Amino acid sequence: MRKKVTKAIFPVAGLGTRFLPATKSVPKEIMTLVDRPLIQYAIDEARAAGIEEFIFVTSRGKSALEDYFDNAPQLEAELRKKGKDDLLALLKSTDMASGAIAYIRQDKPLGLGHAVWCARRLIASDEPFAVILPDDVIDGEPPCLKQMVDAYEATGGSMVAAMEVPRDRIKSYGVLDCASEDGALVTVRGMVEKPAPEEAPSNLAVIGRYILTPDVMTRLGNMKSGSGGEVQLTDAIAEEIGGPAGVYGYRFRGQRFDCGSKSGFLQATVAFALSRPELRDDLLDYMREQVALDRAAQ
Ligand code: G1P
Repeated sequence: MRKKVTKAIFPVAGLGTRFLPATKSVPKEIMTLVDRPLIQYAIDEARAAGIEEFIFVTSRGKSALEDYFDNAPQLEAELRKKGKDDLLALLKSTDMASGAIAYIRQDKPLGLGHAVWCARRLIASDEPFAVILPDDVIDGEPPCLKQMVDAYEATGGSMVAAMEVPRDRIKSYGVLDCASEDGALVTVRGMVEKPAPEEAPSNLAVIGRYILTPDVMTRLGNMKSGSGGEVQLTDAIAEEIGGPAGVYGYRFRGQRFDCGSKSGFLQATVAFALSRPELRDDLLDYMREQVALDRAAQ
């Protein structure tokens, strides 16, 4: 029997400079798509995949994240008093079990690989684990990580979510060199972080969902800095290629939003708002009006 994936690492130490000035005092992960913070989408996805322990790799200025996952007794008492059962239930649905969350500080911004490595003491030496980058919001059914956990049970090798991106965007991603494909599963023979377009082995990019073997954690401890002078997770995973378990890409089913960019964040906001019956009609009316105005002005 393969060991189940029950822990997920959420690297949330980034400064979020693309969202300044908001991120001067609000962690990027608390910014909301409609009324749910980015991090809530990541947590919900992790839970749906069977994750029971949530490890946040944070940095200075992220205490609002800790408060978000704390109980809110005063708020709950107030809602109870006013008989607002629906809001109370909503609040309760974000509760985390006692002891299910751990926070680790990344003391220096040395890259994604380093951030993950900071959580090494919380992952046993025989334990596979997930990594979720909350900037990548994926609307999928079943949720993306669940799709990957199911595929991992069959392969046992480290796995990254994969999606084709336009060639001119490839330099922002980890990129896969594919040996073969079987349905959604891609066997990887090479992986490179943020290549120049002419050097990219394909346009199949790594998206921020990973299931990693404990060996990757060990390798991270010995990694030198790579692309951008940072310790790259991609490089540590690439070292597993050719090993007994192999490395896989998984072409997930679902829509991915790059919420690390303003345009992706806005698109996600519109998409999630349109999926809410109470907001849909008003928003569509507004959008039609805007499109009409825009056409008239041309
Ligand atoms: C990170 C990873 C990269 C991956 C990307 C997905 O890059 O290093 O391999 O393709 O996330 O969003 P970042 O966006 O943090 O620069």
